[in-house]
Amino acid sequence: MRIPVTVVILAAGLGTRMKSRRAKVLHRAGGKALIEHVVETALELAPAERIFVVVGYQAEEVRKVVAGVPSGSAIRFIEQPEQKGTGHALMVGRETLAGLDGYLVILYGDGPLLRAETLKRLTEAAATGEAGGVLLSAVMDDPTGYGRVIRGGGALGARRVARVVEQKAAAPDELAIREANMGIYCYRADLFWKLVDEIRPDNPDREYYLTDMVEIFNRAGHRVEAVRIDDPHEALGINDRVELARVDAILRERKRLELMLAGVTIEKPETVVIDADVRVGTDTVIEPFAQILGKTVIGADCRVGACSIVRDSELADEVEIGPFTIVATSRLARGVHAGPFARLRMENLVEEGAHIGNFVELKKTHMGAHAKASHLAYLGDAQIGAKVNIGAGTITCNYDGLRKHVTKIGDGAFVGSNSTLVAPIEIGEGAYVAAGSVVTERVPPDALALGRARQVIKEDWARKHKALHKK
Ligand code: UD1
Ligand code: CA
Repeated sequence: MRIPVTVVILAAGLGTRMKSRRAKVLHRAGGKALIEHVVETALELAPAERIFVVVGYQAEEVRKVVAGVPSGSAIRFIEQPEQKGTGHALMVGRETLAGLDGYLVILYGDGPLLRAETLKRLTEAAATGEAGGVLLSAVMDDPTGYGRVIRGGGALGARRVARVVEQKAAAPDELAIREANMGIYCYRADLFWKLVDEIRPDNPDREYYLTDMVEIFNRAGHRVEAVRIDDPHEALGINDRVELARVDAILRERKRLELMLAGVTIEKPETVVIDADVRVGTDTVIEPFAQILGKTVIGADCRVGACSIVRDSELADEVEIGPFTIVATSRLARGVHAGPFARLRMENLVEEGAHIGNFVELKKTHMGAHAKASHLAYLGDAQIGAKVNIGAGTITCNYDGLRKHVTKIGDGAFVGSNSTLVAPIEIGEGAYVAAGSVVTERVPPDALALGRARQVIKEDWARKHKALHKK
């Protein structure tokens, strides 16, 4: 659309019905704060310089989240320190906004399911018709809690909206109306700023209701119309935690469908949790109850095992994550195998074809190509070369109670089972560490390190011991 659009997102309220200390728009659904979803949708409609967020409750936190949205750093804010209603939220923005021409699109920060295509339909309708304003409505099975859209009829004509009446103020016949106000509007900016001061707090809440603008426009002789959306889900606003869970489930479902249609197999999809920004390549299989979170990117032909959690990580192609494995902020190269029951705790880099087996924990560790730690090990702050073999029970003692230290293991080294590597320590290329060793000194390349008590044999000891203690 060529006509300029300014978007204002209302996000100042606490949201008392959430029973929370946190501002409502900071609560999360689909893996993101509610306000992030709305801001991302707005960015598909207008450039960041034309987007404003009204903040009040926990303004600092809300600002931070908005600025963190990709290409959202140019979004500006309007302070509404005292929240006297949705109409008041616009009134406090007059100085900042009234100079901006074209259309004014208003969104509520607690409606994350709205799609950008729907918003575009709204602005198209406003720009092409004769209306001074257009609002989005949805026919809902149960519109309880929403404002009801009172259509014109009579002289107004059925397409026009006469007013919006809030649940609290509605008469019984109005409550029976199932067409609900979504809280999304597109007004001609010049008319809006001319008329906004006519909103009066003449309702039981003593609030300035933005919804009063519909009647005010009509009174001034300007048409207001409603565009009905097809998917009433999009209208769901979040007021309490029950609605939060419902919206979260819908966002998750959307994400799974998107991935499945793009060529990802998801087994028992209703059990799988995938955050909105996650990307997954084709022919990857995601097993039941897996959770793939944050900014995770997964390649093609991978497998994410049942009940695994992968967060903010990068998996190249053909990576296999066994069941019950946790991977966080780590990078796994092609063909890596991790799990079942492994934990890649943070900032690990695992090179091509390496193998991390069951009950192995990695922290800030670089695992070389085709290196193996197949069972029961803790590898922290370690730099492990290519084709190293880490025996079962190996522990890097990386912490001395005050500081963390590094363990370096050269290419092709072999660390015997149950070794204790006391960092800082270095094991040279191709060296061997005998099973059960406590290694405290540098091991040169190709050497054997033995660091354990020599075995003693006492012939016949057991037989004598038993005879002595027999009654
Ligand atoms: C509002 C609408 C209702 C509509 C519903 C859709 C009004 C009066 N009612 O009701 O018709 O069906 O949304 O979900 O508009 N906010 C501010 N400053 C304020 C008050 C609110 O920024 O002073 C923000 C809130 O943070 C929230 C949004 O506006 O993000 C909506 O406020 P909320 O109190 O949830 O409105 P509803 O009662 O749901
Ligand atoms: Ca609401």
